[in-house]
Amino acid sequence: MALIHGGQLQQVAEQYQIPMSEWLDLSTGIAPISYPIPDIPLSAWQQLPQRSPELIAAAKQYYQCSALVVTNGSQAIIKALPELYRQQNSLAHNVYLPERGYKEHAHAWKTAGYQLHFYQTLLPDITTILPNSVLVVINPNNPTGQFFAPSVIKQYHEKICQLNGLLVLDEAFMDVMPSKQSYCPHLHRNNITDTISDSGHIMVLRSFGKFFGLAGIRIGFLIADNAWCERFNNLLGPWQVNGPAQVIAAQALNDSAWQTQQKSQLTALRKVQEKSLWQAFSQTLVSDIQGCDLFLTLRFHQAEHAEKIYHLLCQQGVYCRLADEQDTLRFGITTEKSLKRLINACTLAQKTISSG
Ligand SMILES: Cc1ncc(COP(=O)(O)O)c(C=O)c1O
Repeated sequence: MALIHGGQLQQVAEQYQIPMSEWLDLSTGIAPISYPIPDIPLSAWQQLPQRSPELIAAAKQYYQCSALVVTNGSQAIIKALPELYRQQNSLAHNVYLPERGYKEHAHAWKTAGYQLHFYQTLLPDITTILPNSVLVVINPNNPTGQFFAPSVIKQYHEKICQLNGLLVLDEAFMDVMPSKQSYCPHLHRNNITDTISDSGHIMVLRSFGKFFGLAGIRIGFLIADNAWCERFNNLLGPWQVNGPAQVIAAQALNDSAWQTQQKSQLTALRKVQEKSLWQAFSQTLVSDIQGCDLFLTLRFHQAEHAEKIYHLLCQQGVYCRLADEQDTLRFGITTEKSLKRLINACTLAQKTISSG
């Protein structure tokens, strides 16, 4: 069964009987400012897409790595990985995953018959990880914003190598963190210790659409050793990514001036939005706001308030993401112009709750 994510505006608009064009959709963590679409040569539309050396070079430079696969979104890797991993390691049965996090990971491993072990805010106790296990880390986590520094990831990487397992790092939202925080540059260095070969025991997933505000073009990357890249290339086949999307992504990944500006704009918008949300909601209602520069997640003293506020906001045409657990709300970062509308709607929701 398909999982529910943010971005299902059509369905929500029907449910609340408000035309789609009238909604403020903050249900995803996609940047509200998009990379400007460049002129696209006619050949990119006319020809079957080929591997673009420009895109691959731009991506290697941007992610600071020496081997990668361009995919139709990192979701393509998430879905295909469990079966492919079974072919590499027939002893792999256990997967550790964050209890809260992008649910497609758990869904994929469960569907493939693996045994799931959920960890909470901290990574699983390193001494208890079973041999041949897979450890999935979403860094920073969506929706909790929990972040693990490269030094912590390195400890787990070493341990997973010793255990003949696989570390899957999902860095879909990493672009908004300081660049040193990504683990990508550590992948293709020499072995992490003198004695352990780390090759094949780690992969990083990167998502293009979120930071560049172009989720519709569906591009993602797998960063891994050559053997993993070859396996995925063979599995996914040709024409994974369409020609126009490759042209846009190559230009965007090369455009460091735009990236710097986007980062500082998102940081500024996030700060204002976080402050405004704290002002709109009383501290007796909201207990905590976490996230990153692409989304903010609100926790409530009483879990049931999340669902109530979700409905009160939807009634005003403001769509945020109610967690599957029904106890937190995630808001994408929005522009200054739309922030007013969001805050007015939140203030009204707060009043309704207080008077109820
Ligand atoms: C944490 C995380 N990883 C991966 C994805 C998949 O993104 P994409 O397929 O667009 O790269 C998402 C989508 O929302 C996500 O939240």
